[in-house]
Parts: sequence; structure tokens; C-alpha cells
Amino acid sequence: MIITIDGPAGTGKSTVAQRLAQVLQFEYLDTGAMYRMIALKVLSSAVSLEDSDQVANVAGATQLEFDQGAAILDGGDVTHRLREPEVSAAASVVAQNPAVREILVSQQQAIAKGCDIVCEGRDQGTIVFPHADFKFFLTAAEEIRARRRMEDLQRQGTEASFNLVLSEQRERDARDETRSIAPLQPAADAVIVDSSEMTIDEVVTHLQAIIRKSHS
Ligand code: DC
Repeated sequence: MIITIDGPAGTGKSTVAQRLAQVLQFEYLDTGAMYRMIALKVLSSAVSLEDSDQVANVAGATQLEFDQGAAILDGGDVTHRLREPEVSAAASVVAQNPAVREILVSQQQAIAKGCDIVCEGRDQGTIVFPHADFKFFLTAAEEIRARRRMEDLQRQGTEASFNLVLSEQRERDARDETRSIAPLQPAADAVIVDSSEMTIDEVVTHLQAIIRKSHS
């Protein structure tokens, strides 16, 4: 069974997807981490982010794996680096590259094959798994999303001003929503959940209730 959870940053999507996978005893796939790993590799190389052919070559020559929640790039654990603001900004540029998307989409489909899995990202219900069993799209007010992102960064020891986080988030949202390939949008058959006034636990319970109801 495949469950997709899409939506912009700061909606609690990652935590919700992880917890839902845990309670259902499903696998969990963080597709944003895959774009982030490619971005990190490009930033650590001599390749310019703007050189789409070279960036696609990097993606094609990279081994991405997950090991018990850790993100493994070419054999090395890079989990702790993926949320750095520079990597976040670069990931949204990398995610605009059609050749990179093609490579990652087919890897995501291969990972999910034959699994019970919760797949989280921006295009999981629209492009990657159009026939998913359940599709959810999480939203939240932009100030709330920015505040959550800022608190996340602080927990990881990175200080950031609210205004800066909000303006970077707006830039990323605009890029994600207006790009010509796989723009961020809910699938026609996705259940839209506004998490602005909900805790993570409430969202997870809500999604579980929807899944359970359709099975009864
Ligand atoms: O979910 P995240 O913030 O970790 O995603 C990092 C970037 O990758 C973000 O700019 C959106 C992009 N992304 C994407 O385009 N498609 C996905 N399936 C997942 C992430």
C-alpha cells in the first residue's frame, strides 16, 4: 500500500509522515532528502548550480540510500548537513532540473515497489504515485510554517531571524509552485488538511481516521 503526503515546507509533513509510517508499521520515504543530498553534493563540487547538464550528471553518478532514518550519500552519512539553509536553497534550485527529477522519480518508484510505504514530498500524489492508495496534501498559514521552520533550525543549533526564514520560505514556495515541471499542487483526489491549528498528533490521528474509515 502506498500513502502519499505532499505539501510545502513547515506544515509538519515530515514528522507526520514519519509518525504515520511508525503507527502503521510502514516504510517511510523522505523524497526531499534526496533532492537535498544532490544539492549538497553539487555544493561540495566544482559544478555550478546553474549548470543544469552538469547538475544532472552529478545526480546520475550519485548513490542515495537511507539506513534506519539516516541519509547516506555515496556511502557517507550526511543527515546532519541536509537542513543547512544553504542546502535548502540549493535543493529547491536542483528540484527545478527536469533530468534530476526524472532520475529521482524512478528511484522513488523503485524504492516503493512492493512495499507498504508512506512517501513524502511535493509530487508524490501527482507524478510519482498517481495510483497511490491514499493521498494527503498538508497546508498551513505561511507565518506558522516559518515559525515552525525557525524553531526546527534553533533545535539544530542554527540561529535565524523570523523575517529571514519567512522571506527565504516565500522564495522557495514561489519556485516550487511555479516551476514548469512537477509544480507543487495537490492531486485532484488528495485530501487537503490544514495543519495551522492542529498539533502533529492531531494531524496523524486525523489521517489514520481517514484511512481506517475507508477500510471499514
Ligand atoms: O521537503 P524538503 O524541504 O526537504 O524539500 C527540499 C526541496 O526539494 C524543496 O525545495 C522542494 C523539493 N522537493 C521536490 O521538488 N519534490 C519532492 N518530491 C521533494 C522535495
